[in-house]
Amino acid sequence: MTRVLSCIQPTGDVHLGNYLGALRNWERGQHDKDVFHGIVDLHALTVTEQPGVVGERTLALGAMLFAIGLDPNVATVFVQSHVPEHAQLGWVMECTISYGELSRMTQFKDKTSKREGQFISAGLFSYPALQAADIILYDTDEVPVGDDQRQHVEITRDAAIRFNHRFGETFVVPDAVIPAAGARVMDLQDPTSKMSKSGDTDSGCVMMLDDPKAIMKKFKRAVTDSDTGPDAVRYDVAAKPGVSSLLDILAAVTDRTPQQAAEGYSQYGKLKVDTGEAVVAMLEPIQSRYDELMSDPAELTRLLQIGADRAREVASATLRRAYDAIGLLPS
Ligand code: TYM
Repeated sequence: MTRVLSCIQPTGDVHLGNYLGALRNWERGQHDKDVFHGIVDLHALTVTEQPGVVGERTLALGAMLFAIGLDPNVATVFVQSHVPEHAQLGWVMECTISYGELSRMTQFKDKTSKREGQFISAGLFSYPALQAADIILYDTDEVPVGDDQRQHVEITRDAAIRFNHRFGETFVVPDAVIPAAGARVMDLQDPTSKMSKSGDTDSGCVMMLDDPKAIMKKFKRAVTDSDTGPDAVRYDVAAKPGVSSLLDILAAVTDRTPQQAAEGYSQYGKLKVDTGEAVVAMLEPIQSRYDELMSDPAELTRLLQIGADRAREVASATLRRAYDAIGLLPS
């Protein structure tokens, strides 16, 4: 059976980009594939400074993953720090990936440019090595992610291939799986930048827990352009980034192509309202399940413990195989 792994960081709240680019596909894949999904709290330490925050966000993110429909009896949902093999194989990966490769990661360049003059942890630089370990530990075939993670999966492939070449066939070489629609959801106020938790404006980022009024307001204010005329609503990312971004969202939510989603529209106002309403309708059941799950933290903790136990079984066998392949002295 195809093995799937993908993870999300407990930094900030989950947004529509996370959902359409990744989480929704995790839920859709769980019945015909063997799926592992991690809440990567150790990754969040690259930018965390206050005590207590990561743990709270981890639990809330656990509730969100079950709320979107991941079934704890089917999918293995776990917290990264509950499976110590991640940090252990992470070090092996740091020694398998070069300084030059890490220096070329666009996400590192973006994040450091935003933190100019601030503390930049070594972890922010070596982060893709830990991500490679996350993936490789589960003998992963497929990694369902948004487009921004493509480069990180690529470096993971290179690391797996290099390790196998040095120490003999040990690791499965994974493939990134990027959705046809929703792979790059853009900021509603700045449609040339991806929607992100650390975006410049709150109004450009639709949160999974935003109430319907807030969602509609964000869509109604979405930046478009000043074209008028019968073909103003068309999918053309270069010439019409704002309209194309709305069409991308509408297409992803209604399972169509952006071109199909554009049919029948001539005015931006109607497109904005319909897209907002489609998003509200999609999120409402998720929000009510989330509220229910958050009312029972003990049950959430129990579910995450089951996930961690299952994850450890697979991860510890892979780590052992890696240590043996290298020829570390057995304890
Ligand atoms: P993170 O936590 O930033 O995002 C989680 C997932 O959401 C996707 N995503 C988007 N997709 C479409 N449009 C957007 N605007 C958008 N923003 C975010 C991301 O592509 C991702 O799939 N490094 C990873 C976490 C990670 C990981 C892993 C992922 C750690 N280990 C192993 C896969 C496999 C990250 O920071 O994702």
